[in-house]
Amino acid sequence: MTPMNWFPSSGFDLSRIADETFATGVEYHRVLGSTNDRAIELVPSEKLETPFVVLADHQSAGRGRGANAWWSAPGSLTFSVIVDTASHQIPAERLSLVSLAAGLAVSEALTDALPGSALRLKWPNDVFLNGRKASGLLVEVPSTKTERIVIGIGINVNNSLVDASEELQNRATSLVDVSGTPHDRTDVMIRVLQRLEASLALLADDGPRLLDNWRAYCLLTGRSVLLRVGTKESLGLCRGIDERGAILLETPTGLRRYSSGVVLRFD
Ligand code: BTN
Repeated sequence: MTPMNWFPSSGFDLSRIADETFATGVEYHRVLGSTNDRAIELVPSEKLETPFVVLADHQSAGRGRGANAWWSAPGSLTFSVIVDTASHQIPAERLSLVSLAAGLAVSEALTDALPGSALRLKWPNDVFLNGRKASGLLVEVPSTKTERIVIGIGINVNNSLVDASEELQNRATSLVDVSGTPHDRTDVMIRVLQRLEASLALLADDGPRLLDNWRAYCLLTGRSVLLRVGTKESLGLCRGIDERGAILLETPTGLRRYSSGVVLRFD
């Protein structure tokens, strides 16, 4: 079966997701604007037990970082997890590392699904598969209940990019394009949620080890990186991430750390 001719059915096994992961519940939508928007809407509910998952087969207004949209074609996996950081005992000073922990969980889950493939994390939390982006994460802290965090995850699973523009094919990939066979999205999602539970536990118990695990996947270390922070751009050799998850760039004016920014280019 070639990826090009394969069209996935939309069947998720919701009971398996609830039984085999830490999710206390799953809300499924065939079509939804954005799973993050829906999760943010649910956050204030006192009745909501967490971790809670919002899953959509198709997003009509998926959001990426900044002003970007998230392309979600049939066969992709798009969901958001509402996590209560207090019940996971994540210390306040490590809350900024939740997004790195989530990116690590996705990289580990995709490594499980595609043994032998090169999974890397492009700071802060894009997941690259064989040199192209396969997954993006959008972590948001709703203002209504700040101990609840929304972790939005988009993974190109069975949405082949063979018919996409050459420009997009050079930047992005999917699991089916790499393995040549379709993947069960329920299985992928279960692996991600299991890895997420483990990486949040590690973040609570041992932040330095979590960061070391993240560093093992770092795509940018040792490469020349052009970073945009607000309206400024900074070019430097990436020296990895520090103990607070900030990227370190060796620039002509010295070693600089940036806790946020957009990587515009890396060589
Ligand atoms: C990025 O790479 O810019 C982040 C993309 C995040 C996409 C996911 S898909 C599920 C969740 N809902 C959204 O609207 N966005 C995130």
